[in-house]
Amino acid sequence: MSYPSTRTGYALGAITLLFFGLTALLLSNSWGHPPARQQIALVDKAFLEKTPWRQTYADLVQAKEDMSDFDCYGCHDKKKPPVLRFDAHSILIVPEEHKNIVMGHGSHNRNNLCYNCHNEGNLETFQVRDGHELKFADSTQLCGSCHGPNYRDWEAGAHGRINGYWNTTLGEAKKLACANCHNPHAPRIPTRNPAPGPHALRTPITAAHSPATTH
Ligand code: HEC
Ligand code: HEC
Ligand code: HEC
Ligand code: HEC
Repeated sequence: MSYPSTRTGYALGAITLLFFGLTALLLSNSWGHPPARQQIALVDKAFLEKTPWRQTYADLVQAKEDMSDFDCYGCHDKKKPPVLRFDAHSILIVPEEHKNIVMGHGSHNRNNLCYNCHNEGNLETFQVRDGHELKFADSTQLCGSCHGPNYRDWEAGAHGRINGYWNTTLGEAKKLACANCHNPHAPRIPTRNPAPGPHALRTPITAAHSPATTH
C-alpha cells in the first residue's frame, strides 16, 4: 500500500526540483534574450489618402467652383468653330489662352486632336466615335468609347476605385470617374513608389542563414 505512494512522492519531489532548476536557469538568463523586434515603421499617410487626385466637371459644378474654363462660348463664336493649328512638324499648337492644357494623350501624339473628344459643332459637349454627343458631366462614357477594356474593368470594379460604403444602407458607394484620376489631356499616371509590404512578425532570416540559399 505505501510502496506506490512513496514512488509518487519521489516523482513529485524530482519534478519540483526540476522546476526550481529551470527557474534558476531562466533567471540567470542562460539562453540569452531573443533578438529585439524591428521597429514597425508607420505607413506613409499618402497611401491612406482617399481624396481623389482631380476634380471633374461634375465635382466642380457640385462644389460651386469657378466654371469659366468650361464657358467655351464666353470666348468662342458659336458660328465659327476654332481651327486647329499645327507647327512645321505637324504637332498641334495649343494656343496661349489654353496654356493650362498640355496635350500628351498616348505616345507619339496619338490622341492630341481636340476634336477627337470635343465637339466642333457645339464646344460645350463631347462627341464620340459613333457621332452622338455627350454632356461634360459624362466624360467617363467618352473615355469608354475608345477604352473599351478599361471601361469594362471599371464597370466591374476592377479598375479605378469606389469611395464610400459597401453597405449602401449606410451611405453611398461612389465610383470615381476616369477624370478623377486621369487628366483627360495627359492621362498617363506618373510612376509611384509601391506601398510598404506587410511587417514580418519574426526577424527576417538573413540571406546567409536562409535554408533557400544553402542548397
Ligand atoms: C478665355 C477664353 C477661352 C475660353 C473660356 C475657351 N477658349 Fe478655346 N480658345 C481661345 C482662344 C483665344 C483660342 C485661339 C484662337 C482660336 O483658335 O479661336 C482658342 C482655341 C481653341 C481651340 C483650337 C486649339 C488649337 O490647338 O488650335 C479649341 C479646340 C478650343 N479653343 C476649344 C475650347 C473649348 C472646348 C472650350 C470650353 C471647354 C474653350 N475652348 C474655352 C479662348 C478660349
Ligand atoms: C478618341 C479615342 C480616345 C478617347 C475618347 C480617349 N482616349 Fe485615352 N487613349 C487613346 C489612344 C489612341 C491612346 C494611345 C494608345 C497608345 O499610345 O498606345 C490612349 C492612351 C490613354 C492612356 C495611356 C497613357 C498614355 O498617355 O499613353 C490613358 C491612361 C488614357 N488614354 C486614358 C483616357 C481617359 C481617362 C479618357 C477620357 C477622359 C480617354 N483616355 C479618352 C484614345 C482615346
Ligand atoms: C481625349 C479627349 C480630349 C482631348 C483630345 C481634348 N480634350 Fe479637352 N477635355 C476633355 C475632357 C474629358 C474634359 C473635361 C473633364 C473634366 O470633367 O474635368 C476637357 C476639358 C477641357 C476644357 C475645360 C477645362 C480645362 O481643362 O481647361 C478645355 C478648355 C478643353 N478641354 C480644351 C481642349 C483643347 C483646346 C484641346 C486640344 C488642344 C482638348 N481639349 C483636347 C477631353 C479632351
Ligand atoms: C482611382 C483612380 C483611377 C480611375 C477612377 C481610373 N483609372 Fe485608369 N489608371 C489608374 C492608374 C493608377 C493607372 C496606372 C496603372 C499603372 O501604372 O500600372 C491607370 C491606367 C490606365 C490606362 C493605361 C493602360 C492600362 O490599362 O494600364 C488606361 C487606358 C486607363 N487607366 C483608362 C481608364 C479609364 C477609361 C477609366 C474610366 C472608365 C479609368 N482609367 C479610371 C487609375 C485610375
